[in-house]
Amino acid sequence: MTKPARSVFVCQACGAQAAKWMGRCAECGAWNTLVEEAVAAPDAGPGVHRYGRFSTTATATLYAEVEPARGGRISTGIDEFDRVLGGGVVPGSLVLLGGEPGIGKSTLLLQAAARFAQTVGPVLYASGEESEHQIKSRGERLGVGDAPLYLLSETCIEAVLEEATRVKPALIIVDSVQTVWSAKLQSAPGSVGQVREAATQLLFAAKGHDVPTVLVGHVTKDGSLAGPKVLEHVVDTVLSFEGERHHAHRIVRAIKNRFGAVSELGVFEMTGSGLRPVPNPSKLFLSERAPGTPGSAVLCCVEGSRPILVEVQALVSTSTYGTARRMAIGIDQHRLALLLAVLEKRAGLSLGGDDVYVNIAGGMAIDEPAADLSVVAAVASSLRNRGLAPATAVFGEVGLSGEVRGIPQAPLRIREAVQMGFTRIVLPAGNLDRAEPGAADACELIGVRTIGEALDALIA
Ligand code: TYD
Ligand code: MG
Repeated sequence: MTKPARSVFVCQACGAQAAKWMGRCAECGAWNTLVEEAVAAPDAGPGVHRYGRFSTTATATLYAEVEPARGGRISTGIDEFDRVLGGGVVPGSLVLLGGEPGIGKSTLLLQAAARFAQTVGPVLYASGEESEHQIKSRGERLGVGDAPLYLLSETCIEAVLEEATRVKPALIIVDSVQTVWSAKLQSAPGSVGQVREAATQLLFAAKGHDVPTVLVGHVTKDGSLAGPKVLEHVVDTVLSFEGERHHAHRIVRAIKNRFGAVSELGVFEMTGSGLRPVPNPSKLFLSERAPGTPGSAVLCCVEGSRPILVEVQALVSTSTYGTARRMAIGIDQHRLALLLAVLEKRAGLSLGGDDVYVNIAGGMAIDEPAADLSVVAAVASSLRNRGLAPATAVFGEVGLSGEVRGIPQAPLRIREAVQMGFTRIVLPAGNLDRAEPGAADACELIGVRTIGEALDALIA
C-alpha cells in the first residue's frame, strides 16, 4: 500500500511547521500565517543528499594555512552603493536588498548592472517581476548603452542557474526572491519553503563559482523583510532601501554585513534619469533651511562612519483641545516625551498646555541619543519664539536630571560641521575635554554640562 502524499502547514512568518492548520502560529504567535505545503519527496538513491554535490572539502584545515580571500572587492561603479557594501561587492557573496515597492530597488540594480557590465564583465539580470521589454524601456531612461547585460524574464530558479552556467556572468541579480520558485517543491512562489530553497540554491551557486549575487526582497507592511527570518541568516549582507515616497532622496542602509561595517549608509536622489549618488548629504539636508527661524536647530548625527548634518524642527503652539498633542517625525515618540519632561522639570519651561511637533527635515530618521540636545534646543527656541544663534550646530545626549552627556565620535561631527561652514558648536563638556587639539582653531567649541547652560549658549 502506498502512503498518501503528506503535507505540512508552514508559518509564513517564522517558518515553523505544524501537522494541522491553526489560526495562530504556536511558535511566533502570528495570526493566519499557516499555509499548506507538500513535503518534498526524498531524493532517489539512499545516502545521497541533494546538496551533497556542493560539498567540496571534508578535511579540516589549519588556520595558519588557510589562504586569505581571493581577490579584493569589486566596484559596482556606483560610489554610494560601494560604500554601503563596505567598499565594493565581495566575490561569492550573497546580498539581499529589501525595500518598499516603488522605492527604486530595480532602478538601482539596473544602474549597477550596467556599470558592472561595462567595467567588469557580463551581468545576468533575472527578473520575475518585469518583462525584458519593460526593463529595456527603463534602461533607455537610465542610459544603459550596449554593455554585455543579459536580461532573463524567468522565475524558475533551476532555469536561472542553468542560464548562469551558459552566460558565465560576473554578477547575478535576481529581482525578486519572492517571485522565484524551485521545481523541487510544490508550494507557491513566495512561500517560506520556496524562498528558502531559492536562496539556498543561489548561495551555493554564488560560493561555488565565486560570483557575487544580489537578491531583491519585498518588505511587509511594518517595514521588515518579507519571508522567513532564515533568509536573513543565509545571506552575507542585508541592505535596506529607505526613503519617503514624497521626498526625492533615498537611503540605502546596511543592516547586516559579513564583510563591512553595519549601519553604513549611501544616499541617493531619485531623478528623471535614475538614481543619482549624493556625495555630500549634509548639503542636501540643509539646502532649504532658513537660518535664524525659531524652532530650527542643526544637528551633527553620525550614521555608520558618516557624519551628516540635519535640521531638527520644532513647533510649539497653544493647545486648543483638552489634551496637548505631541508628535514626532524622524525621532522616537517616547524619546520626545522624555525630553519634554526633562525640559519642564529641569529647565523650568512650561509646556503643559502646548502642542509640540518635532520633525527631522528631509525625511531622515535618527535614533541616536546625540540628537537629544538639538531637540531640546529646537523646542525651547520655538517656545520662546527666538531663533538659535547663527552658524551654530549642536549635539549631545540629555539625561533625566538635565545633564548633558558625552557621546561617541565627537571629532568626526566637529569636522563635518566646520566643513559645512559652522563657526560655533555646542557640545557636551565631556567631549570637549577629549576634543582633538586644533579643533578649536577652526570654530568656537562651547562645552555644556546641563541643558540650562546649553539653552543659554544657544538662544540669544
Ligand atoms: P523601481 O526601481 O521600479 O522600484 P522597486 O523595484 O523598488 O519597486 O522604482 C520605480 C519608481 O522610481 C517609480 O515610481 C518611478 C521612479 N523613477 C524615477 O523617478 N526616475 C527614473 O529614472 C526611474 C527609472 C524610476
Ligand atoms: Mg522592482
